[in-house]
Amino acid sequence: MATNIDYNELIPNNVDLASDRRLQRALESWHPKFMQWWRARGPEYFQDNDVYLRTAISVDKNGWAHFGKLKMPDYRWGIFLAESSAEKKISFGEHKGESVWQDVPGEYRAPLRRLIVTQGDTEPASVEQQRLLAATAPSLIDMRNLFQVNVEEGRHLWAMVYLLMAHFGRDGREEAEQLLIRQSGDPDKPRILGAFNEKTPDWLAFFMFTFFTDRDGKYQLASLAESAFDPLARSAQFMLTEEAHHMYVGETGVSRVVQRACEIMNDNKTDDVRRFGGIDLPTLQKYINFHFSVSEDLFGSGQSTNAANYYTSGLKGRYQESRLKDDHQLTDEPYKVVRVENGKLITIEVSALSVVNERLRDDYIADCQRGIDRWNKIISDRGIEFSFQLPHRAFHRQIGEFADVHATPDGRIIDQGEWDRHTNDWLPSEADQEFVASLMVQVTEPGEFAAWIAPPRMGINDQPVDFEYVTL
Ligand SMILES: [Fe+2]
Ligand SMILES: [Fe+2]
Repeated sequence: MATNIDYNELIPNNVDLASDRRLQRALESWHPKFMQWWRARGPEYFQDNDVYLRTAISVDKNGWAHFGKLKMPDYRWGIFLAESSAEKKISFGEHKGESVWQDVPGEYRAPLRRLIVTQGDTEPASVEQQRLLAATAPSLIDMRNLFQVNVEEGRHLWAMVYLLMAHFGRDGREEAEQLLIRQSGDPDKPRILGAFNEKTPDWLAFFMFTFFTDRDGKYQLASLAESAFDPLARSAQFMLTEEAHHMYVGETGVSRVVQRACEIMNDNKTDDVRRFGGIDLPTLQKYINFHFSVSEDLFGSGQSTNAANYYTSGLKGRYQESRLKDDHQLTDEPYKVVRVENGKLITIEVSALSVVNERLRDDYIADCQRGIDRWNKIISDRGIEFSFQLPHRAFHRQIGEFADVHATPDGRIIDQGEWDRHTNDWLPSEADQEFVASLMVQVTEPGEFAAWIAPPRMGINDQPVDFEYVTL
């Protein structure tokens, strides 16, 4: 398989698309529909401006990306699979030790299609959610980062559409159409998963989204990268390379807002950060509570027969499956989970196979906690006594074990009355959202930043922070 990508084709790829005329024609006929979608539902502004973007040119870990200025509609969306080896074996489930599959086994056609469509649906959804943000970009480098995330989510859509068209025949082609028809937030034809129908109305929400929700993407992709269906595993593997940047945008974005709040507090000897045009730490905590909890829901029900079947069939593994020390079939493995019983939270031991989703959520929560710790260090380094806390997993959940109860951020089960009295203390209130919205102003002078956010420590690809990342 070629490491380098063929850019002479309409659809750049390293899957030798030219040798499969039927598939090539199917993808080429989807191309204008994608472009139409991108124009209508991709970034609302600056489509005709040059943006400093990275484009994948190889799946080699060293030097896989090229940076240069181009207009977003000229971005070369393509199909890139990470490298594989002929001897690759299935690493878990009942087919453990057998060779990985290059084609979809008949009995797993429906669940695999479902997994690919669900993943694929999130990609254009986030582009739709973020389409108005450039109008309030706090700087050119932030605007560029937004567009980079957007074009790569578009490429992730291509990655999933390729799998559908190459392996699912007519059904796959129909699913590919539907991926451009469903629309984030549309009451009649919404995106499949809840968090992808929420609004991303401001840049604080965008940074939280790329930290918390793109991180869900990382964990989903990492478990798909273990799949016995090798083309899916290799697609997911390469998508993870791009995904890392999205989470970096989120983590550093929030860091810079935290830093700015701390600077205001120290410079003015005050907690009233808002008066000086910054976003105060308690408001940031509420945004964390919201975005973390809706992203947790993306992992589905903790206890799940579907997830157990995906695992046993080899369709979707655990996070870093090969590094885990057990039988990789979970025949007698126990696992600890939190349950609600008689209005209290208790920890019980259940079969690990029955709670594969919960385990993935645990890995996700631990990863989120590391980010929270880094944000807290920014605060403590500046001598301020405040720390963010990840809310308890039972807080503000719509799916799974905790959907029917109300819980405080520290994990106490409460009644409806108490929940209603405190919602605005725990989640961004309308007034909070209006305040954040009031700070959103577009800054387009290279090297200048809106007052609510500190500049980043460095630029993109060794360019200076004041580089003209978008040519206006
Ligand atoms: Fe993505
Ligand atoms: Fe992403």
